[in-house]
Amino acid sequence: MIYRLLRPLVFQGDPERAHDLAMASLERLAPVLARTGSPLPVRDPRLEQRLLGLSFPSPLGLAAGFDKSARALAAWPALGFGFAEIGTVTPASQPGNPRPRLFRLPADDALLNRMGFNNDGAERVAERLARWRGAARGPRTPVGVNLGASAAGAREGGEADYLAAFERLWPAADYFVVNVSSPNTPGLRRLQERGPLEAILRTLAAANARRAVGAGTRPRPLLVKIAPDLEPAQVDELVDLALEHRLDGMVLANTTTSRDGLVSPERLLSEAGGVSGRPLRERSTALLRRAFNRGGGRLTLVGVGGVFDAEDAWQKLLAGASLVQLYTALVYEGPTVIRRINLGLLERMERAGARSLAEVVGSEAGRRAEG
Ligand code: FNR
Repeated sequence: MIYRLLRPLVFQGDPERAHDLAMASLERLAPVLARTGSPLPVRDPRLEQRLLGLSFPSPLGLAAGFDKSARALAAWPALGFGFAEIGTVTPASQPGNPRPRLFRLPADDALLNRMGFNNDGAERVAERLARWRGAARGPRTPVGVNLGASAAGAREGGEADYLAAFERLWPAADYFVVNVSSPNTPGLRRLQERGPLEAILRTLAAANARRAVGAGTRPRPLLVKIAPDLEPAQVDELVDLALEHRLDGMVLANTTTSRDGLVSPERLLSEAGGVSGRPLRERSTALLRRAFNRGGGRLTLVGVGGVFDAEDAWQKLLAGASLVQLYTALVYEGPTVIRRINLGLLERMERAGARSLAEVVGSEAGRRAEG
């Protein structure tokens, strides 16, 4: 309600400046909330899940790209997220593309970005994560790290860059996502093809096994994040590949390069970059359903794209997502959207007579034809 009133004011300013301000406020506010107790998280055993060897207090998480460099780690559980995905992190720090590189498309409930993996680099991010882990008292919500390659690294096949970031971040992350789907690093999406992706996955799996033996723990869960612009057959192939390489799961999906159906002014639509938010919703849910049916529930699927309310999140769960993420809804609906979605999910579980999320996940995937 308050955010609805504030939004016109926020939307008058530059979008990236608004994001920087939001991050700065969250960084300051989070420790206070941690001390005093935040009113926003919804605690209910029906929202809890044990997945990937980790405990998730809610299926709703922060999508990659919002906290690229792990600056506000305490804020995400305080807002009610059940987990957060940091990154994309590249081996060395990068400034990203020149500004402006983030645009609002309010007529489409969407954002368009070509940030280009601006981040502080693996070293700084690993330090922040380690400090946060060290300071945590009691249970901690899972934090995943989304890995990327620089433009030069992607040109060389990506292996060296993903490995360098993975090695540096291994001790500090709860799970990893191999991001081969950002449209804003030239050549990165080509790494979704079988040849290059297999090389990357093999390299990471070997390093993962070695580190796990060294640390006397399980290997870190490894997921791959894919683009919504793939053909259904390509999604099938990626699911098969994920299973062959014993990946733990997939994140579907990243931003889209398509402008189909958008009603925003042409001067905005002609900007280069990926679109997120409402226009992605159906597409990413359809891909999710496809991946769930193909994978037979053997992969943990993370559904992301156009989740603005509880119904959107519910549809992703029904289609096969065990976890759901959002980014753009934070900009359009404000930070209380997380609590609303968590409460709305509980209401829907009540109505469906579901006692656990496991009963919900994928329960409608087989019944619907994929889009
Ligand atoms: C993103 N997203 C993203 N994804 C990723 O894997 N690495 C990244 O660095 C980023 N960066 C990024 C920046 C901005 C400004 C936006 C809007 C998005 C994609 C994001 O994680 C998600 O996949 C899409 O935004 C779809 O979800 P929403 O926004 O529709 O909820």
